Amino acid sequence: MTATTIGAWQRAALARLAPVIGADEAARDLRLILQQTTGWSAARLGIGAAELFPPEALARAEAMLAARLTRQPLAQIIGAWEFYGRSFELTRDTLVPRPDTETLIDLALSAPFARLVDLGTGSGAIAVTLLAERADAQALASDLSQSALDVAARNAARHGVAARLALRCADWWQGLDGLFDLIVSNPPYVSEADYAMLAPEITRWEPRAALTPGGDGLSAYRSILAGMGAHLAPGGRCLVEIGADQGPDVAAIFRQAGLVDVRVHPDINGKARVVSGRANA
Ligand SMILES: C[S@@+](CC[C@H](N)C(=O)[O-])C[C@H]1O[C@@H](n2cnc3c(N)ncnc32)[C@H](O)[C@@H]1O
Repeated sequence: MTATTIGAWQRAALARLAPVIGADEAARDLRLILQQTTGWSAARLGIGAAELFPPEALARAEAMLAARLTRQPLAQIIGAWEFYGRSFELTRDTLVPRPDTETLIDLALSAPFARLVDLGTGSGAIAVTLLAERADAQALASDLSQSALDVAARNAARHGVAARLALRCADWWQGLDGLFDLIVSNPPYVSEADYAMLAPEITRWEPRAALTPGGDGLSAYRSILAGMGAHLAPGGRCLVEIGADQGPDVAAIFRQAGLVDVRVHPDINGKARVVSGRANA
């Protein structure tokens, strides 16, 4: 590979990546690729543009750029992504945790809980974060994908909560035992029709089963709420992430399941993002 300076590589890479994913995202992703490969901070990169790109780091940056040009999400290329201030390992078997899901975390943490279940845990982002934030809580986390659960187990170890987390491979509640004072889930909720319109980063690279249950996008909520009765302790809370236009439908599913105090909560952009409800005490 021909020797080049950091700045020259960044300009040439931007000219290749911007037409594919847009200038703003390309600039952001290239900054992250440079930080990953050089180990430099953003500030050091700013003043080090004239320095030679170390050959080994340059080869890694070229490989990451080539992967990004195929529309692979940067989080998968790096193999880790930040969620609620912690770094989570990711693979092609796990959804990349989205900042939207931090709304669910804030709501879960707004009241006490001792025993929680996270249905469809993926990378473990929700369960591991809640355990890390509440040192005396215990959790059960489940997923239909054993490969995702393997990643969740490593994330639990990475954040020191493995001893308080049980992991189970299950289709929603099937085969799960226990009574919980907090039930949380970010299930697949994109409708079949909307899924077809998502970006290639999502449809080509993230697990389809993590994003859409097919049909109208609501079947996971129906399954979760239908089986919830035997598992929610008196006075316990249930919180699920939703798509922006699903508030009324999911709130109706909550009420049909007998939950009270059902509310739709916005995220920081004002979009409906979480439905909450609780069992009578
Ligand atoms: C939207 S992802 C959420 C992942 C993670 N909780 C997060 O918020 O980043 C949905 C997860 O539900 C899992 N899933 C899909 N269908 C399931 C089912 N029938 N039973 C259990 N988990 C399921 C998927 O494998 C995926 O990991």
